[in-house]
Amino acid sequence: MHRVSQLLLLASLPLSLADETVYGAYIFHRHGDRTPKSLPPTRLTSLGYTQVYTAGQYFRERYVSSNATLKVAGLEPDVVNQAQIAVSAPLDTVLENSAYAFLQGLYPPSESKETLRNGTVVQAPMGGYQLIPVTEVSAGAGSEDNPWLQDASGCLGATTSSNSYFFSAEYAGKLKQTKEFYSSLVPVVNDTFAKDYVTFKNGYTVFDLINVATIHNTSIPSANLLTPQTLYQLRTLADAHEWGLAYNASDNMRAMPGMLLAAEILSAFNSTVISKGKSKLNIQFGAYATFLSFFGLADLPAASVDFTGLPDYASAMLFELFAPNGSSPSPQAEDLRVRFLFKNGTAGEGAPPVAFPLFGGSEMDVSYPVFVEKLSKFAVTTTEDWCSKCRNTAGVCAGASVAGTKSAKQDKKGGISAAIGGVIGAMVTLAVVLGLLALVMLVGGLTVVKKHKAPKGVQAGSGELKA
Ligand SMILES: *[C@@H]1O[C@H](CO)[C@@H](O)[C@H](O)[C@H]1NC(C)=O
Ligand SMILES: *[C@@H]1O[C@H](CO)[C@@H](O)[C@H](O)[C@H]1NC(C)=O
Ligand SMILES: *[C@@H]1O[C@H](CO)[C@@H](O)[C@H](O)[C@H]1NC(C)=O
Ligand SMILES: *[C@@H]1O[C@H](CO)[C@@H](O)[C@H](O)[C@H]1NC(C)=O
Ligand SMILES: *[C@@H]1O[C@H](CO)[C@@H](O)[C@H](O)[C@H]1NC(C)=O
Ligand SMILES: *[C@@H]1O[C@H](CO)[C@@H](O)[C@H](O)[C@H]1NC(C)=O
Ligand SMILES: *[C@@H]1O[C@H](CO)[C@@H](O)[C@H](O)[C@H]1NC(C)=O
Ligand SMILES: *[C@@H]1O[C@H](CO)[C@@H](O)[C@H](O)[C@H]1NC(C)=O
Repeated sequence: MHRVSQLLLLASLPLSLADETVYGAYIFHRHGDRTPKSLPPTRLTSLGYTQVYTAGQYFRERYVSSNATLKVAGLEPDVVNQAQIAVSAPLDTVLENSAYAFLQGLYPPSESKETLRNGTVVQAPMGGYQLIPVTEVSAGAGSEDNPWLQDASGCLGATTSSNSYFFSAEYAGKLKQTKEFYSSLVPVVNDTFAKDYVTFKNGYTVFDLINVATIHNTSIPSANLLTPQTLYQLRTLADAHEWGLAYNASDNMRAMPGMLLAAEILSAFNSTVISKGKSKLNIQFGAYATFLSFFGLADLPAASVDFTGLPDYASAMLFELFAPNGSSPSPQAEDLRVRFLFKNGTAGEGAPPVAFPLFGGSEMDVSYPVFVEKLSKFAVTTTEDWCSKCRNTAGVCAGASVAGTKSAKQDKKGGISAAIGGVIGAMVTLAVVLGLLALVMLVGGLTVVKKHKAPKGVQAGSGELKA
């Protein structure tokens, strides 16, 4: 019977997918269009809401609905089964709201009605709107009121490593070469930024303000300065700036958000395999900096230099865990493979997600054991590892020897402690950190300062620090 249905499927699917069974997927997603960081509080716009909602609908058609193209085996198509799906986002308005909007598209209102003992039929409000919790991967860290996120997220090693970008020859060169370019743009942004602020040092914030304006603002002052070439240069300089802060091959500590994401993916897939597919779909919303640091760690620039550029709003990284040869009720790890795909911008608009080879290879998928081995090389999975890499000795790391000779305060299960689980969430918003770094740099001190004057129009500790 199974064979027959597969033969029927052959007619409608590309050959390579016909026998494939998808057991699990991990989606790491950026928020949709938002207001600029420099005009807090930052919020998801109606355009951004539409983008992430559209992406949710796309992933419904890919993984969830009963006729989905890559249906995740056993995933409830219409009424969500909370045990099958895990959704998370850091404590951040734009990212959390993006997650909820995405879920509205993924599991739209369900017609299902309830009949009570006394015969009354109940339909949930809003046409059967389905409530799906979004776990906050943050233990208070990353709160918008916290002006210096690294204080709460606490990875000293990552801060130091990111900071060192501002001492690199590459940074110094770019700062010098682009002085005139940035000052030529002052008339466009001088309502918001002081003249001195508009340099490569603040390359991302300046790009962000102008980028948002080119989408929303019908009255940009001196808009004639914003030629396509200028906008392109502004974007690529922001790319270089953020890449420099997020990843450095010879000093990869600053890629801590990518290391933590790797651990989360490993743990999610491990539970899919161990639970024999009970846990199926993982969705995490996070900042672009996590994308960039993961791209660097997974050697994706070897597949395309585009991976050194900022992903557009509502972009997604997909990891699909599948068996190439038919389905089995209890898949063995050795029979499974993992495919990586990337969609730059809103899924469901324009081109579909594209597969890229991970780890500098050439194949579009790798066996699951190899995937685990490669990711484990940089994944930070335990508190002890985190403390030692971050060179932290206080808080959750108190009692942990940095040299690793003494056991850190680990979970009984040997995983990462809940406190660092919070840290994971915080680090996932490295963008927040980077925004703060920019602020710190701006004030001229490279030390971790807590009291600083914000530039014109920029208030520290509020939406400015958004992804
Ligand atoms: C699945 O079915 C729905 C409802 O009939 C339809 O709108 C959608 O286009 C179908 N999707 C695919 C991928 O065939
Ligand atoms: C049936 O039970 C529900 C919930 O307790 C109540 O709201 C409703 O009024 C009851 N209906 C009748 C007809 O008793
Ligand atoms: C990358 O790290 C190396 C080694 O610490 C350093 O020499 C170099 O300046 C760094 N480059 C950037 C762009 O940060
Ligand atoms: C911004 O620059 C323009 C052009 O140089 C100038 O006319 C305007 O007064 C400036 N606005 C502010 C608020 O400084
Ligand atoms: C549009 O740009 C002007 C000049 O930068 C600024 O004063 C205004 O706040 C912007 N409006 C919006 C809605 O962003
Ligand atoms: C998967 O989970 C099992 C049981 O919790 C654990 O023993 C194993 O080490 C985990 N493997 C990986 C790769 O995390
Ligand atoms: C995504 O698109 C932006 C331009 O919109 C580009 O700069 C970036 O390199 C792209 N990233 C990838 C991975 O394609
Ligand atoms: C799938 O089946 C083909 C043909 O039977 C075989 O050559 C291939 O090794 C199998 N692949 C996996 C991952 O088991």
